[in-house]
Amino acid sequence: MTLHEHLRAARARLIAAGIPRVEAILDAELLARYVLGWDRVALVARLPDPAPAGFASAYAACVDRRAVREPLAYITGVQEFWDRQFQVGPGVLIPRPETELIIEEALSWAGARAAGAAPLRVLDIGTGSGCLAVTLALEIAGAQVAATDVSSAALAIARTNAERLGATVDFHLGAYLADLAGSFDLIVSNPPYVAAPAHAGLAPEVRDHEPVTALVAGAEGLDVIREIVRRAGPALAPAGLLLMEIGYDQAAAVSRIVADSEGLRLLQIREDLQGIPRVAIVASTRPRVDSSG
Ligand SMILES: C[S@@+](CC[C@H](N)C(=O)[O-])C[C@H]1O[C@@H](n2cnc3c(N)ncnc32)[C@H](O)[C@@H]1O
Repeated sequence: MTLHEHLRAARARLIAAGIPRVEAILDAELLARYVLGWDRVALVARLPDPAPAGFASAYAACVDRRAVREPLAYITGVQEFWDRQFQVGPGVLIPRPETELIIEEALSWAGARAAGAAPLRVLDIGTGSGCLAVTLALEIAGAQVAATDVSSAALAIARTNAERLGATVDFHLGAYLADLAGSFDLIVSNPPYVAAPAHAGLAPEVRDHEPVTALVAGAEGLDVIREIVRRAGPALAPAGLLLMEIGYDQAAAVSRIVADSEGLRLLQIREDLQGIPRVAIVASTRPRVDSSG
């Protein structure tokens, strides 16, 4: 069989498994490239050729996994985030492009700080693959970055990512701030925010393969968000910032939660590229200590 025939059969199989046509076409190609270790140009040029030895069985194994709706990133083991390749696998949420908004906001805020200011102390709550913590450690010069997660499986992957990408992050197992004391200039989080009743209606890739603890947070999806807001007030340094991803329908509820909190003020809820309110930008109202005397 030629490579082209293999790809055509895989595409039909993935469409029959319920994967939308455009995604099935792309995934059949990406899996072939993953198995062959080729870029797109090499694959397209050699589509009419007979498949190399060993390809058929390795490709079939990957297509079988994708046909039961396992996410592509779990099969290839990597997902790009902020132009870097993060290792992922079952047990850790696959980083999403919209979460890069947190990085955009964090870098713009950090860049506006006075030159010569003390190193930023950054905390990532619910680090998962480590995508936020590792990216901030690499992008903000001198930042001291800590990260927590309740999942030891996620933390193991986050540690691997930090090591592979050359980032220094202080990882802690535990909920919210875990055992961390002291205050932070910047707290970031992409917490679980799916409402429990909505879990059954998620895409099979998410519902059946990604960890429930990374997704669901109580009946309205607000349990973890509420607790992060409650803890962020005292944990943020004066003039500190909380950047938190929220669910598509949670803007009003999150605005109320922040308004009712101690020591925080909602600056904005930033929309993602699809116009969905996505990142709550929340400032500490603690007054800056005036060192001028
Ligand atoms: C939506 S995932 C986000 C992962 C990663 N930050 C990202 O953006 O791809 C949420 C993560 O928070 C962790 N988590 C859930 N509840 C937590 C809590 N109370 N404290 C700390 N981590 C928590 C989960 O294990 C999961 O890794």
